[in-house]
Amino acid sequence: MESVITVTRAEFDRRAAEEVGDFIRELPEAKIGFATGATTVGLHRELARMHREEGLDFGRIHSFNLDEYAGLSSRHPFSCRYRMEEQLFGIVNIPRRHIHFLNGEAVDPARECREYEALIDVLGGIDYQVVGIGTNGHIAFNEPGTPFHATAGVVDISGRTLEDKAYMFGGISGVPKQGITLGIKNVMHARRILLLAKGTEKCEIVKEALQGPVTPDIPASILQLHPRLTVIVDEEAGAGL
Ligand code: GLP
Repeated sequence: MESVITVTRAEFDRRAAEEVGDFIRELPEAKIGFATGATTVGLHRELARMHREEGLDFGRIHSFNLDEYAGLSSRHPFSCRYRMEEQLFGIVNIPRRHIHFLNGEAVDPARECREYEALIDVLGGIDYQVVGIGTNGHIAFNEPGTPFHATAGVVDISGRTLEDKAYMFGGISGVPKQGITLGIKNVMHARRILLLAKGTEKCEIVKEALQGPVTPDIPASILQLHPRLTVIVDEEAGAGL
């Protein structure tokens, strides 16, 4: 079951970064799953600060990002890869060969997904997975209705998520219609999970996901069954709990 930490908006990024930073200090060769999105920008920046000012060492970790927009190159400023570089990887001392991503431009996405999963396995699995939550309860790009046993694949992005992401892409028509993503099963295999949510717009879904029934209609609800889930919410997102 989960432990829920509620913090003020001002404390959110630092608290989340403390969790991830402590884990890296404990297990310097950790395999960390990162998530992009508005929620994690501050976490990444704070981790970068901890590297610069406190010597937090990324030299032995491996990173595996959760997902990527299908069809976007890593040079596209809104690709997950590009944003991770800007916010974290380009600043800290993670070796380039330790940064792992699903390639949004893979010619054979099914093969890309199998190879990504195989690499995760070869390196011993994800030790610590950071996840955000969509306003409809999605995790990674696993939209409502996705079976809990789903593994990595190319998926359609729901209308609700397209709307939520429209601000980044200059309108809904600019948002890629598909994503390449780890599946719910992959997420649940992580040894520890950190779920992050902030803002009033996440309040309702956080309550449903953590206190409602476990159902594929709310993909994040499966996280209730993970033995080592930590949740950090700000006061707005946690208001309904
Ligand atoms: C996106 C990503 C998720 C992310 C979620 C929440 O669609 N695929 O990995 O966690 O939406 O994003 P945000 O933090 O911007 O609310």
